Amino acid sequence: MENQAQAPQLNPMPRIGDPAPDFEAVTTHGPIKFSEFNKGSWVILFSHPADFTPVCTTELSAFAQNSDWFEKHNTKLIGLSIDSIHSHLAWVNNVREKTGVFLNFPIIADLDMNVAKKYGMLHPGESTTATVRAVFFIDPQGIIRTILYYPLNLGRNMDEIKRILVGLQTVDQCACALPVNWKPGEKAIVPPPKTIEEMEERLNNTSYEIIDFYLAKKDIEPVE
Ligand code: BEZ
Repeated sequence: MENQAQAPQLNPMPRIGDPAPDFEAVTTHGPIKFSEFNKGSWVILFSHPADFTPVCTTELSAFAQNSDWFEKHNTKLIGLSIDSIHSHLAWVNNVREKTGVFLNFPIIADLDMNVAKKYGMLHPGESTTATVRAVFFIDPQGIIRTILYYPLNLGRNMDEIKRILVGLQTVDQCACALPVNWKPGEKAIVPPPKTIEEMEERLNNTSYEIIDFYLAKKDIEPVE
């Protein structure tokens, strides 16, 4: 009961397909309104438990080291933790001094936990004061397309984050689905037929790799 009394009041968790909750926040790049930030590009919004912690330093450094790749894929990065702007600035400066990596994307100082609560980044069983390692993939229409949550003691996988982003952009481009362990350059799944006629057509389509009428693959154009 004691823990429950201290737990923050939490909103319902956002889900895949929901509009990304809008917010205004203070960041290391100045104040932002999220819906403005999101206009015309994909956004990866990610939370970390705390500044000046080792796993978080490796993760945010990895985002920074891949920032050109994300920009090339029309994607803005934005971090968040329940730390002050002064803490963020000191940490950004420290990481640059010690490792030469510049955390060049905005980091939200979410001291009042407003954004963390809106996005379900607080998981009280894990911590009532620090955000878990969440990753939200938000498309240019402001829709949440994928959500990842990692615990405090397990760092995220940058290759998987990049694979998810390219995968989402690929399904939008080819109106198809992608199979297990799909990687860019591999074939996509053709949507299954819905009528006998479509099924016959599918079975006779020589340009597809056909395992059966409901499981067929095709070559696709890579996303730019
Ligand atoms: C870390 O980033 O190293 C960390 C942060 C919070 C809890 C555990 C580890």
